[in-house]
Amino acid sequence: MVEVSTSILNANEEEIIKTVYDLETAKTDYFHIDVMDGKFVKNDISEKMRKYTESIKNVSNIPLDVHLMVNNVEEYVKDYLDIGVNCITFHIEAYKNEMEVLKQISYIKQNNCKVGLAINPNTNIERVYEYIPYIHKVLIMTVEPGKGGQELLPQTIEKIANINKFIYENGYEVDIEVDGGINEKTSKQVIESGANILVAGSYIINSEDFEKAIKMIKQK
Ligand code: DX5
Ligand code: ZN
Repeated sequence: MVEVSTSILNANEEEIIKTVYDLETAKTDYFHIDVMDGKFVKNDISEKMRKYTESIKNVSNIPLDVHLMVNNVEEYVKDYLDIGVNCITFHIEAYKNEMEVLKQISYIKQNNCKVGLAINPNTNIERVYEYIPYIHKVLIMTVEPGKGGQELLPQTIEKIANINKFIYENGYEVDIEVDGGINEKTSKQVIESGANILVAGSYIINSEDFEKAIKMIKQK
């Protein structure tokens, strides 16, 4: 089954609660919350996103899918665990040491939250293999992290296929989420390569009809 996680990164701040209601009616499977610290990526939207998450949690039962684009993962994890989100995904590039990655994975799980590991376009996919038995999902960045509205980088398609093969051959049950540049054309390519959760921001938010846009990108 293919699911859609709508990124609210580029939603209009004044209308955020209405947008959340409309996306819920349009049956988004998740809300994708992009947290940027001004260090891992240039923009710092950490305060704004924490407030958005708290407001959404108050009005919606749709699971919250948090994507931490931050250097200091610990600092942010606590806040989002307190809010009660469904899944926290952090970047493998935020750590130099394998033990630290494993520690962070188990800390999130101990707090009754799902955990994902994200990987940038230029990082070798094999770096996530050893963590696959312990995580719920892999998030393949299909653009450079930092902003919405970019085009999908074609070289990332092969990474999706490789991780899908690895997961299948080893009998794991791990979601493959893709993030960046998803539209009605690229969605077909990533689904064919094995992605089952598609993050989409501008394609959905800029469309006239959220429900139709969500249906379009779920189509094989
Ligand atoms: C990029 C973010 C993405 C992005 C998706 O750093 O992680 O979630 O906002 O937006 P679109 O779909 O516009 O590429
Ligand atoms: Zn994201």
